[in-house]
Amino acid sequence: MNNANFKFHNDVEIPKIGFGTWQIPNDEAYDSVTMALKNGYTHIDTALAYQNEKNVGKAIKDFDLPREEVFITSKLPAQIKGFEETLKAFDETITNLDVDYLDLYLIHAPWPWDEIGKDCTEGNIQSWKAMEQLYNEGKIKAIGVSNFEIKDIQALLDNCDIVPMANQIPFYVGRDQEDLLAFCKEHNIVVEAYSPLATGELLKNDDIKALADKYDVTPAQLLIRYCLERDTLPLPKSTHEERIVQNKEVDFEISEEDMKQLMQMDDVRK
Ligand code: A2P
Repeated sequence: MNNANFKFHNDVEIPKIGFGTWQIPNDEAYDSVTMALKNGYTHIDTALAYQNEKNVGKAIKDFDLPREEVFITSKLPAQIKGFEETLKAFDETITNLDVDYLDLYLIHAPWPWDEIGKDCTEGNIQSWKAMEQLYNEGKIKAIGVSNFEIKDIQALLDNCDIVPMANQIPFYVGRDQEDLLAFCKEHNIVVEAYSPLATGELLKNDDIKALADKYDVTPAQLLIRYCLERDTLPLPKSTHEERIVQNKEVDFEISEEDMKQLMQMDDVRK
């Protein structure tokens, strides 16, 4: 395996750092994604719910890389559950992006965002079966979930054929979710870390600043490197070019001792 990639259990590879587009409005998405591609990102993460797929897709198209050189992830909206509903939403996404296939398609969350915690097990199973069908037809190279807890993944393992290839979760220093991480590792599920900077809140933390100084990197670089050291795939998001560049330059190692210190930190968002 190329050291710049993670490999899913079906042998499809995914670049180790992705460009996240959550909270990038549609009118800024074109420029941000173009900047990311220009600066060497080959993995772009979007979702129907972000309402920026059209400009994300246009930026990728205009940049004119061969399709197989860009890894594109999108997501089934959290409130859409069911077989036919999933097929329909997938069509909308590939139409928005103007692509023939997706590299990775995720169930955005186990429950609708306005009903967090609701039991939607049956709906998730039906959506997953639709995603398995799309996968078997070659319209998606890998399928996965997002914001799923152990019990949500277990329901798919118990009732469906394909083990999810990825689980995209909020993951940053102080929010390690060790049990979920271990469960995913055991089932060969790649963990993708969204909000690796705790949506920016960890950047002002004094301990993070001090440790970043020690390695002569920025707090953002330290936090992104931390995700990689924990075998998770960071999806940093920025609309500023110098930050977009910086967030990919994380070729250093955090010592075991410093990792221990970071792993003991509390969640700054709690
Ligand atoms: P901006 O988009 O204005 O650059 P997360 O990835 O955890 O969701 O964090 C995203 C937030 O962190 C955004 O507010 C983004 O702001 C900011 N951000 C991203 N990269 C950097 C960086 N290298 N330095 C400082 N702030 C950053």
